[in-house]
Amino acid sequence: MKAIQFKAADSIVAEMIEIEKPSAKGRDVLVRVDAIAMNPVDTKVRPKVGDDDRILGFDAAGTIVECGELVDRLELGDMVYYSGNIQRSGSNAEFQLVDERLVGRRPGSISPAQAASVPLTAVTAWEALFDRLLIDRNGGNSGQTLLIIGGAGGMGSMGIQLAKLAGLTVVATASREESSAWCRELGADHVIDHRDPLLPQLQQLGVEAVDYIANFNNTSAYWEAMGEIVAPQGKVVLIVEPEGALQLGGAFKSKSVTIVWEFMATRPIFNTPDVGRQAWILDQITELIESGNLRTTVGEVMGTINVENLVAAHQAIESGRTIGKLVLEGWD
Ligand SMILES: NC(=O)c1ccc[n+]([C@@H]2O[C@H](COP(=O)([O-])OP(=O)(O)OC[C@H]3O[C@@H](n4cnc5c(N)ncnc54)[C@H](OP(=O)(O)O)[C@@H]3O)[C@@H](O)[C@H]2O)c1
Repeated sequence: MKAIQFKAADSIVAEMIEIEKPSAKGRDVLVRVDAIAMNPVDTKVRPKVGDDDRILGFDAAGTIVECGELVDRLELGDMVYYSGNIQRSGSNAEFQLVDERLVGRRPGSISPAQAASVPLTAVTAWEALFDRLLIDRNGGNSGQTLLIIGGAGGMGSMGIQLAKLAGLTVVATASREESSAWCRELGADHVIDHRDPLLPQLQQLGVEAVDYIANFNNTSAYWEAMGEIVAPQGKVVLIVEPEGALQLGGAFKSKSVTIVWEFMATRPIFNTPDVGRQAWILDQITELIESGNLRTTVGEVMGTINVENLVAAHQAIESGRTIGKLVLEGWD
């Protein structure tokens, strides 16, 4: 089967290679990959690709072509989507093995490219809001305010929509006209510019403090600002490794702020007893898409899955200026 392999190099170097098609055992399903999406994590793992010849790719939509002997919730021919396990071989290949406990049945009403845009960000945003910040998705926190830093990226695009479904007032950050417009289209009540100080912009909106902050961008750059704008007894979720040590005291201590991490690879890597929640989350997401309550977040279809298009997708993600998700569909 074909696979695209990146090299550990200063520039972005990849080649199409031919490798043996794996076969499914245990709880694994073998999926024929029809479309993939690009994530910043690809660019973060890329420099670490070394002797293990790992294949990258952490979002896919495809069709099950083989089931391991212990698979009991999915079947041959199921149309599925998933992010998978960051420690295993990824979706930049014609076929991929993935544990069924990480796999959802994808909506039939959308294209493979649209479906591929969903899993990693949907699972992370869901876990961040509902499993870590413990926001009640059935409206129990309705009217409370959430600030999403990085509103127009893949993460923000899902986060805005899920938070609105839970009844929150959402303030998203974006720095350009087109990214601000994207946030508003997805339901953000207000958009402020992350290049300018956040507190005065919130005050202009009549918001003195926010109950929740989902920092979906640079943890260190917004640390001090988050201490200023979070409400007493408010909650902050972080998803990006900080650049250095963080000062946990000060405003965070005096306000008794809850600070929590979200890493979507935690459940798969540690094989936690609730690892199957990721498949369950994807099934909830499918229902929301099929009922018209959640949009997929394709920003750009980059073409078919080949070296040139995938390298271009890596370059675009590294610019930090993409809107929504970059996807590739079909093999040349
Ligand atoms: N912990 C986890 O499990 C997990 C999961 C998913 C993602 N992540 C991490 O979360 C980060 C965001 O992921 P993503 O997929 O949303 O990335 P993305 O799609 O590449 O984000 C692009 C967006 O970032 C915004 N942006 C650029 N510079 C910014 C800044 N200084 N402050 C705020 N926003 C800024 C841009 O908006 P403007 O053009 O408007 O400036 C752009 O639309 C990445 O570092 C990723 O690795 C972690």
